[in-house]
Amino acid sequence: MGFVRIASFLFVIIFLINGGSSTTFTVVNQCNNTVWPGLLSGASKTAPLPTTGFSLNSSESRVISIPAFWSGRIWARTLCNQNATTGKFTCVTGDCGSSQIECSGAGGIPPATLAEFTLNGAGNLDFYDVSLVDGYNVPMTIVPHGGASGVGKCMATGCAADLNGACPAQLKVTLEDADGVAVACKSACEAFGTPEYCCTGAFGTPDTCKASEYAGFFKKACHTAYSYAYDDGTSTFTCSGADYVITFCPL
Ligand SMILES: *[C@@H]1O[C@H](CO)[C@@H](O)[C@H](O)[C@H]1NC(C)=O
Ligand SMILES: *[C@@H]1O[C@H](CO)[C@@H](O)[C@H](O)[C@H]1NC(C)=O
Ligand SMILES: *[C@@H]1O[C@H](CO)[C@@H](O)[C@H](O)[C@H]1NC(C)=O
Repeated sequence: MGFVRIASFLFVIIFLINGGSSTTFTVVNQCNNTVWPGLLSGASKTAPLPTTGFSLNSSESRVISIPAFWSGRIWARTLCNQNATTGKFTCVTGDCGSSQIECSGAGGIPPATLAEFTLNGAGNLDFYDVSLVDGYNVPMTIVPHGGASGVGKCMATGCAADLNGACPAQLKVTLEDADGVAVACKSACEAFGTPEYCCTGAFGTPDTCKASEYAGFFKKACHTAYSYAYDDGTSTFTCSGADYVITFCPL
C-alpha cells in the first residue's frame, strides 16, 4: 500500500514537472538528396530542444523528443555546403543564417515549406499545419500517430506535390549557375510585398484578405496546406496525445 501510494505520488510530481509526456517527432528524408532540417521554437517557454538543426541523408530518419508544451516550426534546408576557407555553412534554400548546421534560434529564410506546431495548446490539443505562407522549397507531410481516437481533426496533412517546376514564373527561384534548375517557389507576399498579398494594413483581417490567384496555385496542388495567412478553415489540424512523423519528399 505504502509503496503504491508513494509511487503514485512520485508519478504525479513527475507529471507536473514534465507537463505530461513529451512528444516525439520522427523526421524522415525521402528526398533523393540530403536535407538539413531546421527547428525554431516559438514564444512558449519550454525545455530546450535536443537539436535546432542537423543533416539528414537521403532515406534516413531521426527521432527527436519534443517538450510537452513546445510550439515552433520545422523546415528543410537544401543544397547546403560548408565553405572550405571560411568554415561557414550556408544553404541555397531555407538557410537560417547561423553559419552552422545548428540554427540556434534563427528561422529559415523564405521561401521554405514549414511544419508548424503548438503542442498542448487550447483544450489540451496539439495544433499543427503545413504552411506555404512563406513559400515552398520541398514537399512535406505531417502524419500523426497514436492520437486519442475521436478527439480533434487528427489527420495527415501537408503538401506532397513538387511545386518547384510548376511554380509561376514571377515566384520561381532558380539556381544562378548551370541550367537554372528551380529550387523553390516564393509566396506572392514575398515576391510582390504588397498589403493585399501579405494580408497587412487594410487587408489585415480574414474578411479583407482573400486568396489571390497565386495562393490558388498552392491550394490547388495542396488542399490541406496553408496557402495564405487567413487560410485557416481547411489548413489547421488537431490531435491529442499523438506523435508525429514529418516526411520530406513523401513518396
Ligand atoms: C529520385 O531518383 C529516382 C531514381 O533515380 C528518380 O526516378 C526520381 O525522379 C528522382 N526524384 C526526384 C524528385 O528527383
Ligand atoms: C551520410 O552520408 C555521408 C556521405 O555519403 C556519410 O559520410 C555519412 O556517414 C552519412 N551519415 C549517416 C548518419 O549515415
Ligand atoms: C568561400 O568563401 C570565400 C570568402 O567569402 C568566397 O570567396 C568563396 O567563393 C567561397 N567558396 C565557395 C566554394 O563558395
